[in-house]
Amino acid sequence: MLKELKTRPIIAPQPVLIVGTYDADRVADAMNVAWGGQCWDKYVALNISSNHKTTENIRNNKAFTLHIADVDRMELADYFGLVSGHKEHKMEHVHAHTVKGKMVNAPLIEEFTLAMECLVVSMDDNGDGGTRVVAEVVRTVADDSILDENDKVDFSRLRPITYDSEQHLYRKVGQAVGRAFHDGAALK
Ligand SMILES: Cc1cc2nc3c(=O)[nH]c(=O)nc-3n(C[C@H](O)[C@H](O)[C@H](O)COP(=O)(O)O)c2cc1C
Repeated sequence: MLKELKTRPIIAPQPVLIVGTYDADRVADAMNVAWGGQCWDKYVALNISSNHKTTENIRNNKAFTLHIADVDRMELADYFGLVSGHKEHKMEHVHAHTVKGKMVNAPLIEEFTLAMECLVVSMDDNGDGGTRVVAEVVRTVADDSILDENDKVDFSRLRPITYDSEQHLYRKVGQAVGRAFHDGAALK
């Protein structure tokens, strides 16, 4: 029997993205974003509250970095989503290490193993306290520990986490169960 549910963010899996930005004094900030993702081959999108420190920083710099949170960085990722840069110098508090991106005025957080440098293409008020940001990825860096012999990201090495917004849990991305653009051919 189908039950009707209240509308809520139910699409799964939701990513755990860590957005890095600088403020006007070059203080690095980071926030946790679940409502974001790939929106074309070189473009990503974020949906973020307009009053976050991150949103202010992106508005000023037209740039940010994006890191993929993984099992080993779960606690750090959650912290970045619990505390605002308006109140605390988060990087200093957790002794995280940052270096300026090569292509953008935003910090790469060295603790993460996969990161993208992004330049803002558009920022739109969503009319409900939020801002939709679309950005072009201009540089991607990965620690070689998560790459296979062809320099492709091996997700079993990266061990990305996903946010379960129903249970308020982080889950690790699971095992491969099929081949994309291939297994459906059996039904052709
Ligand atoms: C798992 C998780 C996911 C989150 N996803 C979002 C999101 O998609 N958009 C958003 O505006 N805030 C999101 N937040 C809340 C921000 O990360 C949080 O308010 C953060 O403190 C903002 O930091 P800032 O003020 O330094 O930018 C999320 C928090 C957590 C823990």
